[in-house]
Amino acid sequence: MVKANSVALCLAASLSAASAQTFQRLGTCPDLGCVLPPDQQDFLPGQEFDIRFEIHAPKNGSEAFNNGVPDEKFTATIAKDGQKPKSIAEFFKHSEPALEKWTFSWFEDLFAEDANKPSVVNVASKAFRRVALYEPGEYTVTLKYYDGQTTKAHWTVRPLATKKKAKNVVFFIGDGMTTNMITAARLLGHKTVNGRYQSLLALDEFPVLGHQMSHSIDTFITDSANSASALYSGHKSSVNAMGVYVDSSPDTHDDPKVETIVELLYRVWGSAWGAVSTAFIADATPIALTGHTRRRSEYGVLIDQALHGVSNYSWTRTAGPDAYFGGGAEQFIPGSGSYQGKDYYAEFANEGYSVSWNKTALLAAPNDQKALGIFCRSNLPVWLDRNIYTDNLATLENNPSGAKGPATDLPGQKDMTLKAIEILNKRGGDKGFFLMSEAASIDKQMHTLDYERALGDLLELDDTVRATIKKLEDLGILEETLIVVTADHGHGFDVFGSADTKYLRAQEDDRSKRSAVGVYERSGLSQYTQPKEGVQYGTGANFPLNWDPRYAIAAGLGANPDHREDYGLGHKPRVPAAVGANGEVYVENTDRPGGFVVNGTLPTDEAQGVHSLTDVPIFARGPCQETFGGTYSNIDVFYKIASCLGLGHPHNKTVEHPGHPGDGHARYSYLPT
Ligand SMILES: *[C@@H]1O[C@H](CO)[C@@H](O)[C@H](O)[C@H]1NC(C)=O
Ligand SMILES: *[C@@H]1O[C@H](CO)[C@@H](O)[C@H](O)[C@H]1NC(C)=O
Ligand SMILES: *[C@@H]1O[C@H](CO)[C@@H](O)[C@H](O)[C@H]1NC(C)=O
Ligand SMILES: *[C@@H]1O[C@H](CO)[C@@H](O)[C@H](O)[C@H]1NC(C)=O
Ligand SMILES: *[C@@H]1O[C@H](CO)[C@@H](O)[C@H](O)[C@H]1NC(C)=O
Ligand SMILES: [Zn+2]
Repeated sequence: MVKANSVALCLAASLSAASAQTFQRLGTCPDLGCVLPPDQQDFLPGQEFDIRFEIHAPKNGSEAFNNGVPDEKFTATIAKDGQKPKSIAEFFKHSEPALEKWTFSWFEDLFAEDANKPSVVNVASKAFRRVALYEPGEYTVTLKYYDGQTTKAHWTVRPLATKKKAKNVVFFIGDGMTTNMITAARLLGHKTVNGRYQSLLALDEFPVLGHQMSHSIDTFITDSANSASALYSGHKSSVNAMGVYVDSSPDTHDDPKVETIVELLYRVWGSAWGAVSTAFIADATPIALTGHTRRRSEYGVLIDQALHGVSNYSWTRTAGPDAYFGGGAEQFIPGSGSYQGKDYYAEFANEGYSVSWNKTALLAAPNDQKALGIFCRSNLPVWLDRNIYTDNLATLENNPSGAKGPATDLPGQKDMTLKAIEILNKRGGDKGFFLMSEAASIDKQMHTLDYERALGDLLELDDTVRATIKKLEDLGILEETLIVVTADHGHGFDVFGSADTKYLRAQEDDRSKRSAVGVYERSGLSQYTQPKEGVQYGTGANFPLNWDPRYAIAAGLGANPDHREDYGLGHKPRVPAAVGANGEVYVENTDRPGGFVVNGTLPTDEAQGVHSLTDVPIFARGPCQETFGGTYSNIDVFYKIASCLGLGHPHNKTVEHPGHPGDGHARYSYLPT
């Protein structure tokens, strides 16, 4: 990576020691002058974004400078390669913004944190809102401050691609899904004879496979907010942030924003769009399509942004999703979880949405109307509990209406995805559509080390992909639709043998229990594909016939809390670690009483496994499929899709809409033609 920043030598030594490490003053800003978007960022021609400059004056700590007084007379220019630099205001024809000032603090390392001695920084800043670069090429932004110091940012505007090669995109995200998990799911759901699979996953049949690197902008381990944001916008961000570059100000909504794929698609082509998730719909992966915040936990606000757009800064927006299906009733039922306590079922209904609370209502919803479907509180129960251990459902307090009791008549990822495609195809018409469909609990159940539940949801994703291809074919739109299946990050999961769960349970002590694990020649063959005597699972092809065979997979994560392992499927979802007797740290739970104790590898305040560094696979079929082979950054996924959709533009292209809802104009809608 090119190091483009320069700073007075005396500062450089102390800065590199402190700022670039795990505790960061501002991860994207090793100098005292910050340019956001920072060095090494890419842009789609015509993609809208905000720019922020910050001048930091550390008051104390190892970087203390200028008595904590930030330079308020900083200047900034931008130059396209070989051309004369212009001031930012002149180049973007933007008025000179007002100066903003604030103070923040941070810890330089664990010792400072233990001693509760934060370093305090005073800041002067300016933000240029809603600009765009239209000409492909290399740009240099130069920030000058403190009488001679400079920070440079090199930006690349990607090649122009205005030709629309795919009319529609269906983008599947298996949250946390790795190649190792796909391999394990295949073993559970598909039978081998003498080493040869007799059937394959739908993913196995994709013509093109690539790998993407999931790093955040300022850390090498990512979370689902910033990785989704990278996939949707072509701009990396920080943990917990989406649709923004994180600044240091106290306001979580004023961080410089970047335009997302659905905002672009709506502005440039007027296409329809939708999101489906087995998580709560305000969770990072679905909400990052429209979310602009550095705090992913602001769920209520984020649902409002999905419907109405960003409220307090001029920003490009859609007229709301055309199909929006998942869990998360907490943000819709009037009360503490919803934005300003409002009834978001009513807010959506007022904008012309049909509202469904169960599968029957979902399937009956009209295809020519915008549709909201919220089927439970929190995440949807996983495939295994919806299909095998159905008695678990009745114990839940997750009715989406706000009434007491469980949610009943739940759809799965497949039901929601196929219905969304019908609606989007109808409403998008000639203008096409974009659908994101997330299998969220691959990640959520990997976090709790509940491998069978995670792999069940992976098989559900695969089943959904298979059914989607069939659906698109039936609708006559398969050949004009790009299908991409990928993940946002991984977990360090793999299978290393089988375990005789009966023998394991029968052993008295922890060390003897481990001799139940069969490695190499004792790993044997998958028993998941053999029908279990006396039990009728009846979940069809491509799923296990027996979910809890005596010889189970022996599997584990590289990053885990203390837990008890029995290598078997629990009747209830797994809770690996519990708060210890001293009330502070997590110790192994007792929910697998026959298992042996495994000491964790994580800090003892982690109750679950965590994400890992691995690259994740990406599968593609349809128009532009050939561009998805190879190994590349997660941001490239956005540029590949955006190019295929012809979203880059050499001028401000904003299609005429009849008006946004609430604008006082006619309601935006696709009239069936
Ligand atoms: C910096 O100053 C603040 C008070 O303004 C103090 O609380 C903090 O401990 C100081 N930090 C260091 C590293 O000295
Ligand atoms: C593009 O045009 C729209 C509609 O006129 C306007 O609101 C927006 O600010 C423009 N964007 C830029 C980057 O100039
Ligand atoms: C911006 O809007 C959000 C809600 O969308 C709100 O929570 C926040 O306080 C607003 N910020 C300002 C500075 O008005
Ligand atoms: C499904 O929701 C509808 C209202 O949208 C309701 O009338 C019906 O009773 C619900 N069905 C079940 C099985 O909960
Ligand atoms: C787990 O670690 C503790 C010390 O933290 C040790 O006392 C115990 O023996 C270990 N247990 C196993 C099964 O390794
Ligand atoms: Zn996760």
